[in-house]
Amino acid sequence: MTHRTLGRTGLHVFPIGFGSAPAAYLKADAQAATSMINFLLDNGVNLIDTAGSYPGSEEFLGQHLMNRRKDFILVSKCGPKFTGLPGEAGSYEMVSATVDRALKRLQTERIDIMLINSLNLELFQRGDAVRALVDARRAGKVAHIGLSGDNELLDYAATLNDIEVVETSINIVDQRNIDLALPICRQHNVGVLVKRPIGNACWKDLSEQGGIYQKYVKGYSERFSAMALTPADLGFEGDPLTLWPQIALRFSLFQPGVHVALSGTTRQANAQANLRSAQMGPLPQDVIDKIRSAFHQAQGQTPWPALT
Ligand SMILES: NC(=O)c1ccc[n+]([C@@H]2O[C@H](COP(=O)([O-])OP(=O)(O)OC[C@H]3O[C@@H](n4cnc5c(N)ncnc54)[C@H](OP(=O)(O)O)[C@@H]3O)[C@@H](O)[C@H]2O)c1
Repeated sequence: MTHRTLGRTGLHVFPIGFGSAPAAYLKADAQAATSMINFLLDNGVNLIDTAGSYPGSEEFLGQHLMNRRKDFILVSKCGPKFTGLPGEAGSYEMVSATVDRALKRLQTERIDIMLINSLNLELFQRGDAVRALVDARRAGKVAHIGLSGDNELLDYAATLNDIEVVETSINIVDQRNIDLALPICRQHNVGVLVKRPIGNACWKDLSEQGGIYQKYVKGYSERFSAMALTPADLGFEGDPLTLWPQIALRFSLFQPGVHVALSGTTRQANAQANLRSAQMGPLPQDVIDKIRSAFHQAQGQTPWPALT
């Protein structure tokens, strides 16, 4: 698969990245998780996404992956208030302290991309979080700065000189950012990482979603039912449970302006399937049109916002 240039960072990225949010899994079976991440790195993946707010994730990566630090672009996040660190959410103090803590937890001297996350538009517009990251960049602690967020916050942040990368929700049931945010990102040459790229497997029965996912995926699950699409409607034959992950990933990964889809799986077989799907390339245009049209019809008069 051809590498893509992550906007004006100039970094060359493989189209699939690894999202390390399911940190409970990483900790519960460190050997299996390390082996899966190594498998991805051995098969081209060169970007790993974490956050100060994924409990245990930064520490896990620091302990188990830093022997091959040069093999990947490291993305982490800061912004919300953390107990034990000084300052309020979005403050200069809190963001600076979170960067320093991330460097220690990740056992690295520099984080390639630091994103501001979990702030509302008003807090973000105060500018303290961006100022703290600009100073961290000047000090060599981070190389590039960005925002993880959606909707109006994303539209605004993507126009700023200091925001080089954004991480946002784009998938078959979350298309708001395709229409409104991606054009802004393309115009400003902003790197785009997609979170929730397969819509958290929203075609599965909610009762089959593990623990924390049940509440998190509910909104997507309802949208998926409202869109009432089947793979057969899109011209695919076979088992929907095998086809949906492929269709969903190809839909988000090949939207114009998207650079990386963050795969959030905990299973090597699914990681492998996602690599294979990505290799298949974009969906045919008539399939994309049907998915876009089902979304627009199902949302009706009140546009569905991007879900964070
Ligand atoms: N900044 C933020 O606010 C934010 C929010 C959400 C996500 N993120 C980042 O984006 C990453 C990805 O997000 P995500 O995990 O929510 O997105 P996702 O990849 O859309 O959803 C992950 C879910 O899909 C399942 N899955 C993955 N590949 C599959 C396949 N081939 N077949 C069947 N099921 C499959 C996974 O289950 P299995 O584990 O069973 O495969 C898991 O339940 C996160 O890890 C995190 O790094 C950031």
